[in-house]
Amino acid sequence: MAAVLPNYPFYDRYLAFRDRLTGDAGFRRWASRFFLTRWIARRHAKALFDLNTGFVYTQVLQACVRLEVFEALRNGPLSLTQLSLRTELAPEKCRVLMRAAESLRLLETRSIQSHEEGFGLGFLGAALIDNPGVLGMVRHHALFYQDLVDPIALLRGETEPRLKQYWAYSGTDPVQHESPKAQEVASYSELMSASQPFVVDQVLDAYPFHRHQVILDIGGGEGTFIRSVMELHPRLEGWVMDLPAVTERAELAMKRAMPDRAWRVFPGDFRSAILPQGADLITLVRVAHDHDDAVVQPLFSKIFSALLPGGRLMIAEPLAKTPGAEPMGNAYFGMFFLAMGSGRPRSFDELHTMLTQAGFTSIQLVKTAIPLQTSVIIAIR
Ligand SMILES: C[S@@+](CC[C@H](N)C(=O)[O-])C[C@H]1O[C@@H](n2cnc3c(N)ncnc32)[C@H](O)[C@@H]1O
Repeated sequence: MAAVLPNYPFYDRYLAFRDRLTGDAGFRRWASRFFLTRWIARRHAKALFDLNTGFVYTQVLQACVRLEVFEALRNGPLSLTQLSLRTELAPEKCRVLMRAAESLRLLETRSIQSHEEGFGLGFLGAALIDNPGVLGMVRHHALFYQDLVDPIALLRGETEPRLKQYWAYSGTDPVQHESPKAQEVASYSELMSASQPFVVDQVLDAYPFHRHQVILDIGGGEGTFIRSVMELHPRLEGWVMDLPAVTERAELAMKRAMPDRAWRVFPGDFRSAILPQGADLITLVRVAHDHDDAVVQPLFSKIFSALLPGGRLMIAEPLAKTPGAEPMGNAYFGMFFLAMGSGRPRSFDELHTMLTQAGFTSIQLVKTAIPLQTSVIIAIR
């Protein structure tokens, strides 16, 4: 029913009426004073204010991460003087940053023995301790931020985005471009490994891997995901496929961490190479959304053929239109992939259509604890 509402003339008329009302300054003034509508007016004013000023909040976080403020407060609160020494900021400038971070729940004011103004970790700041994945993404966003300085130039393709250079595989053509070199994959491979805990913990909680014998992780990076799965499932054999410069890193890591386990590493470009045959589970973890439909649709078909009959494909990535986390999909990832030069966030429905076209049946969205970080889709061959 909800899906047909937007075409329903009465609903259209209602929306037009609502927009006219909200667009009227006099009505907005009235609604902000009237006791029954005041809370709605306040909520909308705050949402608009946050949308307008969010870049400042982001830069406060960026400054705290780069100055290692959260690390400095790991063992307890510090006075403003101590923080000013640690951050090498003049006390009055340090106060501006600390108070800004406090208002964003990154820090909290704490009374310390000297009765000088002091700060400790706030609810959100504490969540950044021992969290190299988020810290790495915050630092990475310094690049993305530069690409967003002129969003229209970015949208018109008038700039050479920094993200495109960073993600060396994006928007390349396997025939025209050489595969990325070791130094071009090092930084993103480390970032992906560091941020893997966002994903793997949730996937492990959501899906029973014990029913499988051989799992092939395509675009598996340094093998961080597959090692976590193998550690929990001692009989599972793990295969990783990625670009050659990345599988060199995966091979070293697998040799070091899994000397007594069965594993294989397949260097290759999944757009042009034949996929390894015979796995009963193939995983695409944060891979499909990096690529355009023209790459992903044939990849799904190749995966379908490479799987054993009855085998499964797992897609683990954040989805567009995730209820309660809508801006993460089409706003954040939409602009991110635009800057990167390929890929797009897809909704479950869009992936469902593409998977069906590749021959998969019984395509399910599996519940994860924090869909903002990752969703999981299982499709059966
Ligand atoms: C966003 S990273 C995700 C890595 C890993 N799955 C994770 O979640 O940490 C995407 C991975 O896909 C690999 N990749 C991109 N294009 C590829 C291609 N055409 N063939 C093989 N691997 C590719 C990249 O090298 C990179 O390791």
